[in-house]
Amino acid sequence: MSESTSLIELYRKIENCRRCPLYKTAKHAVPGEGKSSAKIMFIGEAPGRNEDETGRPFVGRAGKLLDELLNSIGIARESVFITSVIKHRPPNNRQPKTPEIKACSFFLKLQIKIINPRLIVTLGRFGMEYFLPEEKISEIHGKIINKVKKDGMMLSIFPVYHPAAGLRSTRNKEKLFEDFRKLKKIINDIV
Ligand code: URA
Repeated sequence: MSESTSLIELYRKIENCRRCPLYKTAKHAVPGEGKSSAKIMFIGEAPGRNEDETGRPFVGRAGKLLDELLNSIGIARESVFITSVIKHRPPNNRQPKTPEIKACSFFLKLQIKIINPRLIVTLGRFGMEYFLPEEKISEIHGKIINKVKKDGMMLSIFPVYHPAAGLRSTRNKEKLFEDFRKLKKIINDIV
């Protein structure tokens, strides 16, 4: 089975997932999108209303800001892989619950194994906590953390604020653009 075939297989499993109750209220699963050969993976929190309507990650207002951030450092959205910790929208955009994150991690783990990215950029607290549960995003955003052990893999993690936080505060938006400039340098060095 080729890598892209196994990602498609995984999409089907995510669409039929009953591991937690979120499928009952969601319209569409949002598995993620991008190439299985992507060198950089972006991992957000959970789908919102627009993502639930379309089945695509980061297509709402936060997604537009993510597109701007990617454009600002000359990265094409199509060249990276974009997903979230949670694949079905939590009702009314509430925060994901720990058992939901645990249940959905089954899929994120497989996506990372298949894609085998050189760098994972976490968008927001939930993405960061998945890999670095002891850390605070306010302290480690914009820094690369190498050799993070997770599910038998050794990963490089670059945490940034969630684009939605950038929509709420100009300061956070500035920090996001600043961190993406750092990201550009890291990508030039390691990818
Ligand atoms: N926020 C996320 O974390 N993920 C999405 O797909 C959309 C908004």
